[in-house]
Amino acid sequence: MSTSATSIETGLITLRDPRSPAAEAYRTLRTNIQFSSLDKPIHTLMMTSTAADEGKTTSLANLAVTIAQAEQRVILVDCDLRRPGLHDIFNAPNEHGLTSVILEQGDGLLPLQSTPVPGLRLLTSGPLPPRPADLLGSRRMETLIERLRGEADMILFDTPPVVAVTDAAVLASRMDGVLLVLQAGKTRRDRAREARRLLEKVKANIIGVVLNNARLETGYGYYG
Ligand SMILES: Nc1ncnc2c1ncn2[C@@H]1O[C@H](COP(=O)(O)OP(=O)(O)O)[C@@H](O)[C@H]1O
Ligand SMILES: [Mg+2]
Repeated sequence: MSTSATSIETGLITLRDPRSPAAEAYRTLRTNIQFSSLDKPIHTLMMTSTAADEGKTTSLANLAVTIAQAEQRVILVDCDLRRPGLHDIFNAPNEHGLTSVILEQGDGLLPLQSTPVPGLRLLTSGPLPPRPADLLGSRRMETLIERLRGEADMILFDTPPVVAVTDAAVLASRMDGVLLVLQAGKTRRDRAREARRLLEKVKANIIGVVLNNARLETGYGYYG
């Protein structure tokens, strides 16, 4: 295994310890996503939460690895244009990414980066824009999502928390499905309700909740 593969393993339990209960929980999550909508398969999926540090980025990256391990082509897209984190997890440069594609317009090659995980590619955030919500809500963003649909079996989008800023809600309406990450014993009930309300307002298809239990280290749960 290459050096970079070894270093990304530290942050990704699905690579570091594929037999762990947490890795197993991600496989269950993968299966549940597959079966959540049989008539209209989920092709674009977004992860959000009520607050920072609830494990959105970590959970999404592990889910992406797990789906790639099932021999599907996956693209991870960093739409957290406030606190992007996917490039750090994968030790990837971030000079070009999502924002470069949107701002440069045209239809040149997408700056998709390969990762040490076969089948998994990454579109990092790129330089942070002054008004993330406008960028995510733009017509060009819609075009980009369409282009990405042609590039992989599953496209996973990371976002900022849905309660604080509108970015996630703007994107949610354009996704086939939305997953909400809650942290066991930490996410406030009223905030979780507020997140659901905001997502339902834009007619998002909330397909499930990922329960991230960082404290107890018992890993992850999933409730459909
Ligand atoms: N289940 C977990 N167990 C241990 N640490 C976790 C877990 N989930 C997240 N973390 C850690 O918590 C921090 C915040 O997680 P992150 O995925 O960046 O959250 P968010 O994207 O919601 O802000 C990171 O340092 C991450 O490694
Ligand atoms: Mg994050």
